[in-house]
Amino acid sequence: MGLHLHLHLLRAQLLVSILLIFVSRSVSTQSNFQIAKPNCTDHCGNVSIPFPFGRSEGCYFNESFLVTCNDTHYNPPEPFIGDSSINITSISLEGQLRVLQFIAKDCYSRNGTSVLNIEPSITVPSGFMVNPTANKFIVVGCDTYAFASGYRENRNYSTGCISLCQNEDDLVDGSCTGVGCCQMLISKQLRGVQVTLNSFDNFTRVSDFDNCSYGFVAEESAFTFSASSLSNLKNVEMLPMVIDWAVGEGTCEEARNNISSYACKSEKSKCYEPDNGYGYRCRCQEGYEGNPYLDDGCKDIDECKHQSLNKCKKKCENTPGGYKCVCPKGYHGDGKKDGRGCIRGQSLIFKLVPG
Ligand SMILES: *[C@@H]1O[C@H](CO)[C@@H](O)[C@H](O)[C@H]1NC(C)=O
Ligand SMILES: *[C@@H]1O[C@H](CO)[C@@H](O)[C@H](O)[C@H]1NC(C)=O
Ligand SMILES: *[C@@H]1O[C@H](CO)[C@@H](O)[C@H](O)[C@H]1NC(C)=O
Ligand SMILES: *[C@@H]1O[C@H](CO)[C@@H](O)[C@H](O)[C@H]1NC(C)=O
Ligand SMILES: *[C@@H]1O[C@H](CO)[C@@H](O)[C@H](O)[C@H]1NC(C)=O
Ligand SMILES: *[C@@H]1O[C@H](CO)[C@@H](O)[C@H](O)[C@H]1NC(C)=O
Ligand SMILES: *[C@@H]1O[C@H](CO)[C@@H](O)[C@H](O)[C@H]1NC(C)=O
Ligand SMILES: *[C@@H]1O[C@H](CO)[C@@H](O)[C@H](O)[C@H]1NC(C)=O
Ligand SMILES: *[C@@H]1O[C@H](CO)[C@@H](O)[C@H](O)[C@H]1NC(C)=O
Ligand SMILES: *[C@@H]1O[C@H](CO)[C@@H](O)[C@H](O)[C@H]1NC(C)=O
Repeated sequence: MGLHLHLHLLRAQLLVSILLIFVSRSVSTQSNFQIAKPNCTDHCGNVSIPFPFGRSEGCYFNESFLVTCNDTHYNPPEPFIGDSSINITSISLEGQLRVLQFIAKDCYSRNGTSVLNIEPSITVPSGFMVNPTANKFIVVGCDTYAFASGYRENRNYSTGCISLCQNEDDLVDGSCTGVGCCQMLISKQLRGVQVTLNSFDNFTRVSDFDNCSYGFVAEESAFTFSASSLSNLKNVEMLPMVIDWAVGEGTCEEARNNISSYACKSEKSKCYEPDNGYGYRCRCQEGYEGNPYLDDGCKDIDECKHQSLNKCKKKCENTPGGYKCVCPKGYHGDGKKDGRGCIRGQSLIFKLVPG
């Protein structure tokens, strides 16, 4: 009997580990669906390039979505937006791409003369814009005021941030509230951003512990302020920035009126308008995955293959866009883990009908 119990425990343990494997695997249901147009290269180095993006003519939606892959100078090859020097680190079909952008720096010697001044700017293609929620305008320094200037539709927008401190001890790790670090939201729908840095006293009052200003519009999660940021940012050249893209300028309703230009090509796709208020994008319908911008790009998800995607107690049957739970012969019920499950015996209906 002891052995019996032991075996049971072992089996239970095995089941638990199998379940765990399933759970951790199922995080990426991303099967091998096609992401680029037929005969188009779907990656550059480590970065995958899904349509509407593409590396050559006929492979992208329009010029804005051209990705240039530099494989002569970089190993692994490095993708850039169009013919710009903006490197792409990832592209998502949810409407974002992540790029690297240089940070602005303004440094002084002890006597207050400027020794370094870098104020880079970035301009993204038309139809693209700097994501206003994932990115923040962040400024670091103890004698610093800065502007982030951008434009949209031929109008300029500017926002400012002031960061001061008198003593290194005043800096609080993780706190970006104006003492050594200042942060601001940026305006929606900006196509370009430039950060300019200024100083009140050329760092002469704080030169014992600080001699540089830094500024950037970057993915908020990529930077956490700490006292050591004052010196560490010296060695940082670039930080990630999240860019939004859209495939059309109008609303979904307007886009659907012209089937030849409508970008949601897959039969199982649907159109939506992003939060940033510009244009439209496509996604696969519930129960489908893949690339909604390609003909037949959305493929049925087999929920039965992934334990975490179905709620079936015993047997699962895949259907287009969904799944069914079934009970084995001799059982009845809805077959669901969170429902009635499968109960041994015939259903009540069957019992009652014959009388
Ligand atoms: C892809 O390339 C192959 C061989 O080069 C060609 O036969 C085929 O027609 C091409 N398909 C498309 C969709 O261009
Ligand atoms: C590219 O991907 C491979 C495997 O995923 C990884 O080992 C390598 O470090 C990556 N290279 C870069 C530059 O990210
Ligand atoms: C690759 O990058 C190098 C250095 O930035 C540049 O000189 C070269 O022209 C690029 N090649 C291509 C094909 O873009
Ligand atoms: C990004 O591109 C620049 C050239 O514009 C290059 O110097 C740099 O190494 C690239 N950075 C990464 C992380 O690939
Ligand atoms: C700025 O300060 C750092 C250390 O605080 C020092 O190493 C560096 O030489 C200083 N730079 C200038 C230009 O004074
Ligand atoms: C300030 O310091 C720099 C080097 O740190 C030196 O080259 C410059 O001549 C100095 N300027 C003045 C006005 O003292
Ligand atoms: C501060 O630096 C700027 C150059 O960045 C210079 O024009 C100005 O004269 C400096 N001011 C002082 C008080 O040193
Ligand atoms: C916006 O700012 C840029 C650079 O400062 C300037 O060249 C441009 O004329 C400005 N545009 C408008 C419409 O004010
Ligand atoms: C590409 O398409 C987007 C979305 O319709 C549009 O905003 C952008 O202006 C287009 N780019 C070019 C170069 O035509
Ligand atoms: C529909 O879109 C096509 C391709 O973009 C364009 O040539 C055509 O003029 C559009 N038709 C209408 C009615 O807007």
